[in-house]
Amino acid sequence: MSEIEALLETGQVQDGAPPVLELDRVTRSFPTSPPVVALNEVSLRAEQGDYVAIVGPSGSGKSTLMNVLGLLDRPTSGEYRLMGRQTTTMRERERTRLRGSAIGFVFQSFHLLPHRSVLDNVMLGETYARTGDRKGRRVRALAALERVSLGHRVEFAPPQLSGGERQRVAIARALMGSPGLLLCDEPTGNLDSRNTEAVLDLLDDLRATQGLTIVVITHEHEVSERAARRVRIADGTLTESA
Ligand SMILES: Nc1ncnc2c1ncn2[C@@H]1O[C@H](COP(=O)(O)OP(=O)(O)OP(=O)(O)O)[C@@H](O)[C@H]1O
Ligand SMILES: [Mg+2]
Repeated sequence: MSEIEALLETGQVQDGAPPVLELDRVTRSFPTSPPVVALNEVSLRAEQGDYVAIVGPSGSGKSTLMNVLGLLDRPTSGEYRLMGRQTTTMRERERTRLRGSAIGFVFQSFHLLPHRSVLDNVMLGETYARTGDRKGRRVRALAALERVSLGHRVEFAPPQLSGGERQRVAIARALMGSPGLLLCDEPTGNLDSRNTEAVLDLLDDLRATQGLTIVVITHEHEVSERAARRVRIADGTLTESA
């Protein structure tokens, strides 16, 4: 088996693992005048391989929730355990390290560097690499690009790609560092229906083959329908629908 094949085989489901994420009565309020309670005693749990869509109107707290889940923001009260680790009391450095190793981010606008190759863009996904070697990083980036079926585009620059291909590059970048959790904020917001399908198929496949846990914020019915769980957020309060 080649090094790339070996990497593609990693990330299988482990028995007895703690929940990937566990929010326990998390509140995030902002001390504005008047104060805003963007998240109000939110509890949410996701296991390895879960696929959760979060839907809700503008201003309902979706981005605030994503920021908390992504360790980019801290709750005002309540607890957040990620991969079994209590993050609420962690120092910033430790949170940054955990974020780099546990979480991949995918955004609506792909955030690729236009003047760098596809391969370079993906390699940059491993900012907090556990191993600093460039050669290893290159091999892992090539494996990630194979994973999203873009092995034939590694030397292209992002402007030479279609929207769907760009988002797949962004997903490959998010896969660097082998995260257990993929946080996607409107991942298909800039894509037509054909490319939306391709990206959704890829997310399905990653969940099924690598046991990735996926949380996706979306306004699109087509996207939330593909998730196994749908959670509504309104005025900072979550309700899960069947
Ligand atoms: N830094 C902040 N200071 C004060 N209030 C904030 C801050 N960030 C968000 N809010 C408020 O918290 C609420 C939730 O905002 P959030 O950005 O999470 O909404 P959203 O669901 O992502 O909306 P959209 O769909 O428009 O992106 C809003 O009322 C917003 O004004
Ligand atoms: Mg938002």
